[in-house]
Amino acid sequence: MFKFTAKALVCALSLSLAGLAQAADPIIIKFAHVVADNTPKGQGALMFKKLAEERLPGRVKVEVYPNSSLFGDGKEMEALLLGDVQMLAPSLAKFEQYAKPVQIFDLPFLFDDMAAVDRFQQGPAGRALLASMESKNITGLAYWHNGMKVMSANKAVREPKDARGLKFRVQASAVLEEQFKVVRANPRKMSFAEVYQGLQTGVVNGTENTWSNYYSQKVHEVQKFITESDHGLIDYMVITNTTFWNGLPEDVRSELSKIMAEVSVEVNRQADELNRVAKQDIAKAGTTEIIELTPEQRAEWREAMKPVWKKFEGDIGADLIQAAQAANQN
Ligand code: LMR
Repeated sequence: MFKFTAKALVCALSLSLAGLAQAADPIIIKFAHVVADNTPKGQGALMFKKLAEERLPGRVKVEVYPNSSLFGDGKEMEALLLGDVQMLAPSLAKFEQYAKPVQIFDLPFLFDDMAAVDRFQQGPAGRALLASMESKNITGLAYWHNGMKVMSANKAVREPKDARGLKFRVQASAVLEEQFKVVRANPRKMSFAEVYQGLQTGVVNGTENTWSNYYSQKVHEVQKFITESDHGLIDYMVITNTTFWNGLPEDVRSELSKIMAEVSVEVNRQADELNRVAKQDIAKAGTTEIIELTPEQRAEWREAMKPVWKKFEGDIGADLIQAAQAANQN
Protein backbone atom coordinates (compact mmCIF):
# COMPACT_ATOMS: atom_id res chain seq x y z
CA MET A 1 0.00 0.00 0.00
CA PHE A 2 2.77 2.40 1.07
CA LYS A 3 4.80 1.38 -1.95
CA PHE A 4 1.86 2.08 -4.23
CA THR A 5 1.22 5.55 -2.74
CA ALA A 6 4.89 6.55 -2.99
CA LYS A 7 5.01 5.44 -6.59
CA ALA A 8 1.84 7.36 -7.39
CA LEU A 9 3.31 10.45 -5.71
CA VAL A 10 6.54 10.27 -7.73
CA CYS A 11 4.52 9.83 -10.86
CA ALA A 12 2.24 12.79 -10.10
CA LEU A 13 5.26 14.93 -9.24
CA SER A 14 7.10 14.18 -12.44
CA LEU A 15 3.97 14.83 -14.46
CA SER A 16 3.47 18.23 -12.87
CA LEU A 17 7.17 19.06 -13.32
CA ALA A 18 6.85 18.17 -16.97
CA GLY A 19 3.80 20.41 -17.09
CA LEU A 20 5.78 23.28 -15.58
CA ALA A 21 8.62 22.78 -18.03
CA GLN A 22 6.09 22.79 -20.84
CA ALA A 23 4.47 25.97 -19.57
CA ALA A 24 7.89 27.59 -19.48
CA ASP A 25 8.78 26.60 -23.05
CA PRO A 26 8.36 29.49 -25.48
CA ILE A 27 5.90 29.18 -28.33
CA ILE A 28 7.95 28.73 -31.48
CA ILE A 29 6.79 30.59 -34.56
CA LYS A 30 8.59 29.53 -37.71
CA PHE A 31 8.27 32.28 -40.31
CA ALA A 32 9.43 31.11 -43.73
CA HIS A 33 9.70 33.12 -46.93
CA VAL A 34 11.39 32.98 -50.31
CA VAL A 35 13.15 36.35 -50.61
CA ALA A 36 16.32 37.90 -49.19
CA ASP A 37 16.60 39.74 -45.86
CA ASN A 38 17.26 43.08 -47.57
CA THR A 39 13.81 43.30 -49.17
CA PRO A 40 10.52 44.68 -47.78
CA LYS A 41 9.29 41.23 -46.76
CA GLY A 42 12.70 40.14 -45.43
CA GLN A 43 12.87 43.25 -43.27
CA GLY A 44 9.28 42.80 -42.11
CA ALA A 45 9.89 39.24 -40.92
CA LEU A 46 12.96 40.36 -38.94
CA MET A 47 11.09 43.32 -37.43
CA PHE A 48 8.27 41.00 -36.36
CA LYS A 49 10.77 38.65 -34.71
CA LYS A 50 12.51 41.49 -32.86
CA LEU A 51 9.33 43.03 -31.46
CA ALA A 52 7.69 39.71 -30.59
CA GLU A 53 10.72 38.52 -28.65
CA GLU A 54 11.17 41.91 -26.93
CA ARG A 55 7.57 42.22 -25.84
CA LEU A 56 6.84 38.59 -25.07
CA PRO A 57 10.19 37.55 -23.57
CA GLY A 58 10.45 33.84 -22.90
CA ARG A 59 6.94 33.29 -24.21
CA VAL A 60 7.43 33.56 -27.95
CA LYS A 61 10.41 32.76 -30.13
CA VAL A 62 10.29 33.60 -33.83
CA GLU A 63 12.56 31.74 -36.23
CA VAL A 64 12.87 33.44 -39.61
CA TYR A 65 13.86 31.34 -42.62
CA PRO A 66 14.55 33.55 -45.69
CA ASN A 67 15.50 32.60 -49.27
CA SER A 68 13.39 29.40 -49.45
CA SER A 69 15.76 27.91 -46.84
CA LEU A 70 12.98 26.04 -45.03
CA PHE A 71 10.21 25.83 -47.62
CA GLY A 72 10.06 27.30 -51.11
CA ASP A 73 7.16 28.01 -53.45
CA GLY A 74 4.94 25.03 -53.95
CA LYS A 75 5.70 23.53 -50.55
CA GLU A 76 5.14 26.40 -48.12
CA MET A 77 1.33 26.45 -48.10
CA GLU A 78 1.17 22.73 -47.53
CA ALA A 79 3.70 23.11 -44.69
CA LEU A 80 1.54 25.81 -43.09
CA LEU A 81 -1.52 23.59 -43.21
CA LEU A 82 0.46 20.67 -41.74
CA GLY A 83 1.76 22.87 -38.91
CA ASP A 84 5.41 22.58 -40.01
CA VAL A 85 5.61 26.36 -40.25
CA GLN A 86 3.38 28.92 -38.51
CA MET A 87 3.75 32.06 -40.62
CA LEU A 88 4.29 32.84 -44.28
CA ALA A 89 3.93 35.90 -46.45
CA PRO A 90 3.40 34.59 -49.98
CA SER A 91 3.07 36.97 -52.85
CA LEU A 92 -0.62 37.65 -53.59
CA ALA A 93 -0.13 35.81 -56.88
CA LYS A 94 0.22 32.52 -55.02
CA PHE A 95 -3.28 32.15 -53.53
CA GLU A 96 -5.35 31.09 -56.51
CA GLN A 97 -5.84 27.52 -55.23
CA TYR A 98 -7.23 28.88 -51.96
CA ALA A 99 -9.21 31.99 -52.87
CA LYS A 100 -9.92 32.97 -56.47
CA PRO A 101 -10.85 36.60 -55.64
CA VAL A 102 -7.28 37.22 -54.39
CA GLN A 103 -6.31 36.95 -58.07
CA ILE A 104 -7.49 40.54 -58.37
CA PHE A 105 -4.06 41.76 -57.31
CA ASP A 106 -2.49 40.23 -60.44
CA LEU A 107 -4.68 42.09 -62.94
CA PRO A 108 -2.34 44.22 -65.05
CA PHE A 109 -2.63 48.00 -64.79
CA LEU A 110 -5.34 47.81 -62.13
CA PHE A 111 -3.91 50.23 -59.57
CA ASP A 112 -2.54 53.67 -60.48
CA ASP A 113 -0.02 53.70 -57.64
CA MET A 114 0.79 52.23 -54.22
CA ALA A 115 -1.46 54.72 -52.44
CA ALA A 116 -4.42 53.24 -54.35
CA VAL A 117 -3.27 49.72 -53.44
CA ASP A 118 -3.20 50.79 -49.81
CA ARG A 119 -6.69 52.28 -49.94
CA PHE A 120 -8.07 49.08 -51.43
CA GLN A 121 -6.25 46.72 -49.04
CA GLN A 122 -7.24 48.69 -45.95
CA GLY A 123 -10.83 49.20 -47.11
CA PRO A 124 -13.71 46.77 -46.48
CA ALA A 125 -13.15 44.69 -49.63
CA GLY A 126 -9.45 44.25 -48.94
CA ARG A 127 -10.04 43.37 -45.28
CA ALA A 128 -12.67 40.81 -46.28
CA LEU A 129 -10.09 39.00 -48.44
CA LEU A 130 -7.86 38.55 -45.39
CA ALA A 131 -10.63 36.58 -43.71
CA SER A 132 -11.75 34.71 -46.82
CA MET A 133 -9.69 31.53 -46.34
CA GLU A 134 -10.60 30.68 -42.73
CA SER A 135 -12.61 27.68 -43.88
CA LYS A 136 -9.35 26.39 -45.38
CA ASN A 137 -7.56 26.96 -42.06
CA ILE A 138 -5.67 30.02 -43.33
CA THR A 139 -5.96 33.35 -41.51
CA GLY A 140 -4.74 36.51 -43.23
CA LEU A 141 -3.10 38.82 -40.70
CA ALA A 142 -1.95 41.73 -42.84
CA TYR A 143 -0.91 43.01 -46.25
CA TRP A 144 2.70 43.93 -46.81
CA HIS A 145 3.82 45.98 -49.79
CA ASN A 146 6.67 45.23 -52.07
CA GLY A 147 5.75 47.42 -55.01
CA MET A 148 5.12 47.77 -58.71
CA LYS A 149 6.58 45.22 -61.10
CA VAL A 150 8.98 45.98 -63.88
CA MET A 151 9.72 43.64 -66.78
CA SER A 152 13.08 42.35 -67.98
CA ALA A 153 14.44 40.43 -70.94
CA ASN A 154 17.62 39.75 -72.84
CA LYS A 155 16.39 42.09 -75.58
CA ALA A 156 14.96 45.59 -75.39
CA VAL A 157 11.22 45.45 -74.76
CA ARG A 158 9.45 48.76 -75.37
CA GLU A 159 6.20 47.83 -77.03
CA PRO A 160 4.00 44.76 -76.66
CA LYS A 161 5.18 43.42 -80.01
CA ASP A 162 8.77 43.27 -78.65
CA ALA A 163 7.66 40.58 -76.18
CA ARG A 164 6.37 38.23 -78.87
CA GLY A 165 7.88 34.76 -78.69
CA LEU A 166 9.94 35.50 -75.57
CA LYS A 167 9.74 33.01 -72.72
CA PHE A 168 8.83 34.83 -69.51
CA ARG A 169 9.06 33.33 -66.04
CA VAL A 170 5.85 33.92 -64.09
CA GLN A 171 4.72 33.04 -60.59
CA ALA A 172 2.20 30.21 -60.24
CA SER A 173 -0.71 32.36 -61.36
CA ALA A 174 -3.16 31.81 -64.21
CA VAL A 175 -3.68 35.58 -64.46
CA LEU A 176 0.02 36.21 -64.97
CA GLU A 177 0.19 33.43 -67.52
CA GLU A 178 -2.62 35.05 -69.45
CA GLN A 179 -1.02 38.48 -69.15
CA PHE A 180 1.93 37.25 -71.23
CA LYS A 181 -0.19 35.13 -73.57
CA VAL A 182 -2.19 38.17 -74.68
CA VAL A 183 1.00 39.81 -75.95
CA ARG A 184 1.93 36.53 -77.65
CA ALA A 185 4.83 35.76 -75.33
CA ASN A 186 5.33 32.33 -73.71
CA PRO A 187 4.82 32.29 -69.95
CA ARG A 188 6.52 29.60 -67.85
CA LYS A 189 5.54 29.03 -64.23
CA MET A 190 8.67 28.67 -62.13
CA SER A 191 9.44 28.96 -58.44
CA PHE A 192 11.25 32.06 -57.24
CA ALA A 193 14.35 30.10 -56.18
CA GLU A 194 14.85 28.91 -59.77
CA VAL A 195 14.61 32.25 -61.54
CA TYR A 196 18.30 33.17 -61.65
CA GLN A 197 19.33 29.81 -63.05
CA GLY A 198 16.40 29.70 -65.43
CA LEU A 199 17.51 32.99 -66.96
CA GLN A 200 21.18 32.11 -66.92
CA THR A 201 20.65 28.84 -68.77
CA GLY A 202 18.10 30.25 -71.22
CA VAL A 203 15.16 28.14 -70.02
CA VAL A 204 13.45 31.54 -69.93
CA ASN A 205 14.47 34.83 -71.58
CA GLY A 206 12.66 37.30 -69.38
CA THR A 207 10.72 37.85 -66.20
CA GLU A 208 8.87 40.44 -64.11
CA ASN A 209 9.48 41.49 -60.53
CA THR A 210 10.20 44.44 -58.25
CA TRP A 211 13.54 46.24 -58.17
CA SER A 212 14.38 44.86 -54.72
CA ASN A 213 13.75 41.27 -55.83
CA TYR A 214 15.88 41.77 -58.96
CA TYR A 215 18.78 43.26 -57.05
CA SER A 216 18.79 40.96 -54.02
CA GLN A 217 18.72 37.82 -56.21
CA LYS A 218 21.26 39.32 -58.68
CA VAL A 219 18.74 38.71 -61.47
CA HIS A 220 19.89 41.90 -63.20
CA GLU A 221 23.23 40.15 -63.84
CA VAL A 222 21.48 37.77 -66.23
CA GLN A 223 19.13 40.30 -67.87
CA LYS A 224 20.39 42.92 -70.33
CA PHE A 225 17.30 45.12 -70.23
CA ILE A 226 14.75 46.13 -67.63
CA THR A 227 11.67 48.03 -68.78
CA GLU A 228 10.22 50.33 -66.17
CA SER A 229 6.69 49.26 -66.96
CA ASP A 230 5.06 49.37 -63.50
CA HIS A 231 2.43 47.14 -65.08
CA GLY A 232 1.37 45.23 -61.99
CA LEU A 233 1.87 44.59 -58.32
CA ILE A 234 3.90 42.36 -56.04
CA ASP A 235 2.51 42.54 -52.53
CA TYR A 236 2.06 39.95 -49.81
CA MET A 237 -0.50 38.54 -47.44
CA VAL A 238 0.99 37.56 -44.11
CA ILE A 239 -0.81 34.37 -43.17
CA THR A 240 -0.94 31.92 -40.31
CA ASN A 241 -2.56 28.57 -39.60
CA THR A 242 -6.02 29.36 -38.19
CA THR A 243 -6.01 26.50 -35.64
CA PHE A 244 -2.57 27.54 -34.40
CA TRP A 245 -3.53 31.22 -34.16
CA ASN A 246 -6.83 30.64 -32.39
CA GLY A 247 -5.12 28.23 -29.98
CA LEU A 248 -2.61 30.83 -28.74
CA PRO A 249 -3.17 32.23 -25.22
CA GLU A 250 -5.42 35.27 -25.54
CA ASP A 251 -2.83 37.78 -24.29
CA VAL A 252 -0.13 36.42 -26.63
CA ARG A 253 -2.44 36.54 -29.65
CA SER A 254 -3.53 40.08 -28.90
CA GLU A 255 0.07 41.30 -28.43
CA LEU A 256 1.17 39.57 -31.64
CA SER A 257 -1.75 41.20 -33.49
CA LYS A 258 -0.65 44.62 -32.25
CA ILE A 259 2.94 43.93 -33.28
CA MET A 260 1.82 42.75 -36.72
CA ALA A 261 -0.15 45.99 -37.20
CA GLU A 262 2.87 48.11 -36.23
CA VAL A 263 5.27 46.11 -38.39
CA SER A 264 2.91 46.34 -41.37
CA VAL A 265 2.83 50.14 -41.18
CA GLU A 266 6.63 50.18 -41.11
CA VAL A 267 7.07 47.65 -43.95
CA ASN A 268 4.64 49.58 -46.10
CA ARG A 269 6.41 52.85 -45.32
CA GLN A 270 9.87 51.46 -46.17
CA ALA A 271 9.05 49.40 -49.26
CA ASP A 272 9.24 52.27 -51.76
CA GLU A 273 12.60 53.38 -50.48
CA LEU A 274 14.06 49.84 -50.61
CA ASN A 275 12.94 49.54 -54.23
CA ARG A 276 14.29 53.00 -55.10
CA VAL A 277 17.73 52.13 -53.69
CA ALA A 278 17.71 48.73 -55.42
CA LYS A 279 16.98 50.45 -58.74
CA GLN A 280 19.94 52.80 -58.17
CA ASP A 281 22.18 49.85 -57.32
CA ILE A 282 21.17 48.08 -60.53
CA ALA A 283 21.89 51.22 -62.53
CA LYS A 284 25.30 51.50 -60.81
CA ALA A 285 26.12 47.83 -61.50
CA GLY A 286 26.07 48.70 -65.21
CA THR A 287 24.96 45.22 -66.29
CA THR A 288 21.51 46.22 -67.43
CA GLU A 289 20.00 49.00 -69.49
CA ILE A 290 16.97 50.55 -67.85
CA ILE A 291 14.29 51.45 -70.38
CA GLU A 292 11.73 54.13 -69.59
CA LEU A 293 8.43 53.98 -71.43
CA THR A 294 6.81 56.98 -73.05
CA PRO A 295 3.19 57.61 -71.98
CA GLU A 296 2.10 56.35 -75.43
CA GLN A 297 4.06 53.10 -75.05
CA ARG A 298 2.62 52.55 -71.59
CA ALA A 299 -0.88 53.11 -72.96
CA GLU A 300 -0.17 50.48 -75.62
CA TRP A 301 0.74 47.91 -72.95
CA ARG A 302 -2.34 48.77 -70.96
CA GLU A 303 -4.52 48.31 -74.02
CA ALA A 304 -2.83 45.03 -75.00
CA MET A 305 -3.18 43.50 -71.54
CA LYS A 306 -6.68 44.73 -70.73
CA PRO A 307 -8.46 41.58 -72.08
CA VAL A 308 -7.04 39.70 -69.07
CA TRP A 309 -9.54 41.52 -66.84
CA LYS A 310 -12.56 40.19 -68.73
CA LYS A 311 -11.23 36.66 -68.72
CA PHE A 312 -10.94 36.55 -64.92
CA GLU A 313 -13.92 38.73 -64.03
CA GLY A 314 -16.05 35.65 -63.27
CA ASP A 315 -13.55 34.18 -60.81
CA ILE A 316 -12.69 37.47 -59.14
CA GLY A 317 -16.07 39.19 -59.17
CA ALA A 318 -17.02 42.35 -61.07
CA ASP A 319 -17.87 44.14 -57.79
CA LEU A 320 -14.42 43.53 -56.41
CA ILE A 321 -12.80 44.86 -59.58
CA GLN A 322 -15.00 47.94 -59.31
CA ALA A 323 -13.98 48.44 -55.67
CA ALA A 324 -10.32 48.28 -56.68
CA GLN A 325 -10.83 50.80 -59.46
CA ALA A 326 -12.65 53.09 -57.07
CA ALA A 327 -9.52 53.09 -54.89
CA ASN A 328 -7.72 54.88 -57.74
CA GLN A 329 -9.87 57.95 -57.07
CA ASN A 330 -8.66 59.42 -53.84
C1 LMR B 1 8.18 35.83 -56.99
O1 LMR B 1 7.95 34.61 -56.84
O2 LMR B 1 8.51 36.33 -58.04
C2 LMR B 1 8.06 36.79 -55.85
O3 LMR B 1 6.78 37.11 -55.68
C3 LMR B 1 8.73 36.33 -54.62
C4 LMR B 1 8.36 37.19 -53.46
O4 LMR B 1 7.90 36.63 -52.48
O5 LMR B 1 8.53 38.41 -53.55
